[in-house]
Amino acid sequence: MITLTIDGKKITADKNTTILKAALENRITIPTLCSHEGLSPLGNCRLCVVEITKNGRTKVVTSCNYPVEAGLTVTTTSDTITAIRKTIIELLAARSPNVKIVRELADQMGVAIPRFTLENEKCILCGLCVHVCSEYIGAHAITFSSHGTGKEVAPPLYRSAKDCIGCGACVEICPAQCITLQDTKEARTYSPRGKEDVGPARLIHNWNARVPWKACTTCGNPFPPPSPVEYLEKGQPLPKNFFHICETCR
Ligand code: FES
Repeated sequence: MITLTIDGKKITADKNTTILKAALENRITIPTLCSHEGLSPLGNCRLCVVEITKNGRTKVVTSCNYPVEAGLTVTTTSDTITAIRKTIIELLAARSPNVKIVRELADQMGVAIPRFTLENEKCILCGLCVHVCSEYIGAHAITFSSHGTGKEVAPPLYRSAKDCIGCGACVEICPAQCITLQDTKEARTYSPRGKEDVGPARLIHNWNARVPWKACTTCGNPFPPPSPVEYLEKGQPLPKNFFHICETCR
Protein backbone atom coordinates (compact mmCIF):
# COMPACT_ATOMS: atom_id res chain seq x y z
CA MET A 1 0.00 0.00 0.00
CA ILE A 2 1.15 3.55 -0.67
CA THR A 3 -0.06 7.00 0.32
CA LEU A 4 -0.86 9.82 -2.07
CA THR A 5 -2.94 12.97 -2.05
CA ILE A 6 -5.99 13.48 -4.25
CA ASP A 7 -7.74 16.85 -4.11
CA GLY A 8 -6.05 17.64 -0.81
CA LYS A 9 -7.15 14.36 0.79
CA LYS A 10 -4.48 11.89 1.96
CA ILE A 11 -5.46 8.43 0.77
CA THR A 12 -3.98 4.98 0.98
CA ALA A 13 -4.12 2.84 -2.14
CA ASP A 14 -2.86 -0.47 -3.47
CA LYS A 15 0.44 0.24 -5.20
CA ASN A 16 -0.78 -1.61 -8.31
CA THR A 17 -3.91 0.46 -8.84
CA THR A 18 -4.53 3.50 -11.03
CA ILE A 19 -5.31 7.08 -10.04
CA LEU A 20 -8.87 6.65 -11.34
CA LYS A 21 -9.54 3.55 -9.24
CA ALA A 22 -7.96 5.09 -6.15
CA ALA A 23 -10.11 8.21 -6.62
CA LEU A 24 -13.33 6.26 -7.15
CA GLU A 25 -12.66 4.10 -4.08
CA ASN A 26 -12.49 7.34 -2.11
CA ARG A 27 -15.70 8.75 -3.61
CA ILE A 28 -13.87 11.26 -5.76
CA THR A 29 -15.56 11.26 -9.16
CA ILE A 30 -13.71 11.67 -12.43
CA PRO A 31 -15.67 11.59 -15.71
CA THR A 32 -14.88 8.71 -18.08
CA LEU A 33 -16.18 7.35 -21.35
CA CYS A 34 -13.85 4.51 -22.25
CA SER A 35 -13.20 2.95 -18.87
CA HIS A 36 -14.81 -0.29 -17.65
CA GLU A 37 -14.08 -2.02 -14.34
CA GLY A 38 -13.84 -5.45 -15.97
CA LEU A 39 -11.33 -4.43 -18.65
CA SER A 40 -7.81 -3.04 -18.78
CA PRO A 41 -7.63 0.74 -19.38
CA LEU A 42 -7.79 2.04 -22.95
CA GLY A 43 -6.89 5.70 -22.56
CA ASN A 44 -8.90 6.63 -25.66
CA CYS A 45 -11.40 9.29 -24.64
CA ARG A 46 -8.99 11.46 -22.54
CA LEU A 47 -11.92 12.67 -20.44
CA CYS A 48 -10.39 11.32 -17.23
CA VAL A 49 -7.46 13.77 -17.33
CA VAL A 50 -6.08 15.02 -14.01
CA GLU A 51 -3.09 17.08 -12.98
CA ILE A 52 -0.30 15.34 -11.10
CA THR A 53 2.57 16.94 -9.27
CA LYS A 54 5.75 15.11 -8.40
CA ASN A 55 9.21 16.44 -7.61
CA GLY A 56 7.79 19.96 -7.94
CA ARG A 57 6.69 19.46 -11.56
CA THR A 58 3.07 19.37 -12.69
CA LYS A 59 1.69 17.63 -15.76
CA VAL A 60 -1.62 16.41 -17.16
CA VAL A 61 -2.18 12.65 -17.43
CA THR A 62 -5.09 10.29 -18.06
CA SER A 63 -6.06 8.88 -14.67
CA CYS A 64 -7.50 5.59 -15.96
CA ASN A 65 -4.11 4.25 -16.99
CA TYR A 66 -1.72 6.20 -14.77
CA PRO A 67 -0.45 4.16 -11.80
CA VAL A 68 -0.52 5.61 -8.32
CA GLU A 69 2.82 6.52 -6.78
CA ALA A 70 3.84 7.22 -3.22
CA GLY A 71 3.82 10.93 -2.47
CA LEU A 72 1.99 11.89 -5.67
CA THR A 73 -0.29 14.91 -5.54
CA VAL A 74 -3.32 14.70 -7.81
CA THR A 75 -5.78 17.44 -8.68
CA THR A 76 -8.96 16.25 -10.39
CA THR A 77 -10.47 19.68 -11.00
CA SER A 78 -8.64 22.85 -11.96
CA ASP A 79 -9.02 25.50 -14.65
CA THR A 80 -6.68 23.54 -16.93
CA ILE A 81 -8.54 20.25 -16.42
CA THR A 82 -11.95 21.88 -16.89
CA ALA A 83 -10.79 23.51 -20.13
CA ILE A 84 -9.42 20.23 -21.50
CA ARG A 85 -12.55 18.24 -20.62
CA LYS A 86 -14.80 20.94 -22.06
CA THR A 87 -12.91 20.88 -25.36
CA ILE A 88 -13.14 17.07 -25.53
CA ILE A 89 -16.87 17.16 -24.88
CA GLU A 90 -17.33 20.01 -27.35
CA LEU A 91 -15.63 17.94 -30.04
CA LEU A 92 -17.77 14.93 -29.15
CA ALA A 93 -20.91 17.05 -29.07
CA ALA A 94 -20.10 18.22 -32.59
CA ARG A 95 -19.46 14.67 -33.79
CA SER A 96 -22.38 12.98 -32.00
CA PRO A 97 -24.91 15.64 -30.95
CA ASN A 98 -27.70 13.10 -30.59
CA VAL A 99 -25.93 10.63 -28.33
CA LYS A 100 -27.47 10.74 -24.86
CA ILE A 101 -24.28 10.31 -22.81
CA VAL A 102 -22.57 13.07 -24.79
CA ARG A 103 -25.52 15.43 -24.35
CA GLU A 104 -25.58 14.73 -20.61
CA LEU A 105 -21.86 15.39 -20.21
CA ALA A 106 -22.14 18.52 -22.33
CA ASP A 107 -24.96 19.78 -20.09
CA GLN A 108 -22.99 19.00 -16.94
CA MET A 109 -19.95 20.87 -18.26
CA GLY A 110 -21.90 23.81 -19.58
CA VAL A 111 -21.06 23.14 -23.24
CA ALA A 112 -23.91 24.55 -25.29
CA ILE A 113 -23.44 24.82 -29.05
CA PRO A 114 -20.11 23.42 -30.24
CA ARG A 115 -17.83 25.71 -32.27
CA PHE A 116 -17.04 22.84 -34.64
CA THR A 117 -18.90 21.53 -37.68
CA LEU A 118 -21.88 19.46 -36.62
CA GLU A 119 -22.07 15.83 -37.72
CA ASN A 120 -24.46 13.09 -36.75
CA GLU A 121 -22.30 10.10 -35.92
CA LYS A 122 -23.69 7.57 -33.49
CA CYS A 123 -20.33 6.03 -32.58
CA ILE A 124 -18.12 8.08 -30.25
CA LEU A 125 -15.02 5.94 -30.96
CA CYS A 126 -14.44 5.06 -27.31
CA GLY A 127 -13.21 1.62 -28.39
CA LEU A 128 -14.98 -0.36 -25.65
CA CYS A 129 -16.72 -2.66 -28.16
CA VAL A 130 -13.42 -3.61 -29.82
CA HIS A 131 -11.76 -4.00 -26.44
CA VAL A 132 -14.40 -6.24 -24.83
CA CYS A 133 -14.57 -8.40 -27.95
CA SER A 134 -10.83 -9.00 -28.02
CA GLU A 135 -9.71 -8.82 -24.39
CA TYR A 136 -12.63 -10.42 -22.53
CA ILE A 137 -14.47 -12.54 -25.08
CA GLY A 138 -11.40 -13.35 -27.15
CA ALA A 139 -13.30 -13.31 -30.45
CA HIS A 140 -11.43 -10.40 -32.13
CA ALA A 141 -14.41 -10.01 -34.45
CA ILE A 142 -14.24 -6.22 -34.96
CA THR A 143 -11.52 -3.62 -35.15
CA PHE A 144 -10.76 0.04 -35.75
CA SER A 145 -10.48 0.80 -39.45
CA SER A 146 -8.98 3.77 -41.24
CA HIS A 147 -7.35 6.81 -39.62
CA GLY A 148 -8.00 10.42 -38.70
CA THR A 149 -11.45 11.71 -39.47
CA GLY A 150 -12.30 8.46 -41.29
CA LYS A 151 -11.60 6.27 -38.27
CA GLU A 152 -14.41 3.87 -37.42
CA VAL A 153 -15.17 0.51 -35.86
CA ALA A 154 -15.97 -2.11 -38.46
CA PRO A 155 -15.79 -5.81 -39.28
CA PRO A 156 -12.64 -6.96 -41.10
CA LEU A 157 -12.43 -5.49 -44.62
CA TYR A 158 -15.85 -3.87 -44.05
CA ARG A 159 -17.50 -7.20 -44.84
CA SER A 160 -19.03 -9.39 -42.15
CA ALA A 161 -17.68 -10.18 -38.70
CA LYS A 162 -17.19 -13.87 -39.31
CA ASP A 163 -15.58 -14.42 -35.91
CA CYS A 164 -18.50 -12.82 -34.06
CA ILE A 165 -20.06 -15.28 -31.62
CA GLY A 166 -23.14 -13.09 -31.12
CA CYS A 167 -22.65 -12.65 -27.36
CA GLY A 168 -23.78 -9.03 -27.51
CA ALA A 169 -21.06 -7.82 -25.10
CA CYS A 170 -20.32 -4.99 -27.56
CA VAL A 171 -23.98 -3.97 -27.56
CA GLU A 172 -24.21 -3.86 -23.79
CA ILE A 173 -20.92 -2.10 -23.14
CA CYS A 174 -21.40 0.67 -25.74
CA PRO A 175 -21.95 3.95 -23.82
CA ALA A 176 -23.49 5.50 -26.94
CA GLN A 177 -25.97 2.62 -27.34
CA CYS A 178 -25.36 2.61 -31.06
CA ILE A 179 -24.95 -1.12 -31.76
CA THR A 180 -28.10 -3.01 -32.68
CA LEU A 181 -28.86 -6.66 -32.07
CA GLN A 182 -31.81 -8.70 -33.22
CA ASP A 183 -32.78 -12.30 -32.49
CA THR A 184 -34.90 -13.74 -35.24
CA LYS A 185 -36.73 -17.05 -35.33
CA GLU A 186 -37.89 -16.50 -38.90
CA ALA A 187 -37.30 -19.48 -41.11
CA ARG A 188 -35.31 -17.49 -43.63
CA THR A 189 -32.72 -14.77 -43.17
CA TYR A 190 -30.07 -13.56 -45.52
CA SER A 191 -26.40 -13.38 -44.74
CA PRO A 192 -24.49 -10.23 -45.79
CA ARG A 193 -23.28 -12.02 -48.89
CA GLY A 194 -26.82 -12.65 -50.02
CA LYS A 195 -26.67 -16.33 -49.15
CA GLU A 196 -29.93 -17.66 -47.79
CA ASP A 197 -29.70 -19.08 -44.29
CA VAL A 198 -32.39 -20.97 -42.48
CA GLY A 199 -33.15 -21.12 -38.78
CA PRO A 200 -33.08 -18.89 -35.72
CA ALA A 201 -30.12 -16.55 -35.55
CA ARG A 202 -28.75 -13.48 -33.85
CA LEU A 203 -28.02 -10.51 -36.08
CA ILE A 204 -25.66 -7.74 -35.03
CA HIS A 205 -26.34 -5.18 -37.72
CA ASN A 206 -23.32 -2.91 -37.23
CA TRP A 207 -20.93 -5.78 -37.95
CA ASN A 208 -23.04 -7.56 -40.60
CA ALA A 209 -22.92 -10.54 -38.28
CA ARG A 210 -25.34 -13.44 -38.47
CA VAL A 211 -24.80 -16.04 -35.75
CA PRO A 212 -27.07 -19.10 -35.81
CA TRP A 213 -28.40 -20.17 -32.42
CA LYS A 214 -26.59 -23.22 -31.07
CA ALA A 215 -28.23 -26.36 -29.72
CA CYS A 216 -27.77 -26.67 -25.95
CA THR A 217 -25.33 -29.47 -25.23
CA THR A 218 -27.59 -30.65 -22.37
CA CYS A 219 -31.19 -30.45 -23.64
CA GLY A 220 -30.59 -30.05 -27.37
CA ASN A 221 -32.85 -26.99 -27.78
CA PRO A 222 -31.52 -24.04 -29.83
CA PHE A 223 -30.92 -20.90 -27.76
CA PRO A 224 -29.57 -17.37 -28.37
CA PRO A 225 -26.02 -16.67 -27.12
CA PRO A 226 -26.26 -15.62 -23.44
CA SER A 227 -25.00 -12.23 -22.24
CA PRO A 228 -21.59 -12.31 -20.52
CA VAL A 229 -22.00 -8.85 -19.01
CA GLU A 230 -22.90 -9.99 -15.49
CA TYR A 231 -19.55 -11.80 -15.18
CA LEU A 232 -17.66 -9.01 -16.90
CA GLU A 233 -18.98 -6.45 -14.43
CA LYS A 234 -17.83 -8.57 -11.49
CA GLY A 235 -14.45 -9.00 -13.16
CA GLN A 236 -14.96 -12.80 -13.25
CA PRO A 237 -13.96 -15.13 -16.06
CA LEU A 238 -16.81 -16.78 -17.95
CA PRO A 239 -17.73 -20.28 -16.73
CA LYS A 240 -16.60 -23.14 -18.95
CA ASN A 241 -19.29 -24.02 -21.49
CA PHE A 242 -20.98 -20.64 -20.93
CA PHE A 243 -21.97 -20.37 -24.59
CA HIS A 244 -22.91 -24.04 -24.92
CA ILE A 245 -25.53 -24.54 -22.23
CA CYS A 246 -28.91 -22.77 -22.32
CA GLU A 247 -30.20 -20.63 -19.48
CA THR A 248 -32.68 -23.30 -18.28
CA CYS A 249 -30.12 -26.11 -18.11
CA ARG A 250 -27.53 -23.88 -16.50
S1 FES B 1 -11.45 6.96 -19.26
FE1 FES B 1 -9.35 7.46 -19.32
S2 FES B 1 -9.03 7.97 -21.38
FE2 FES B 1 -11.11 7.34 -21.34
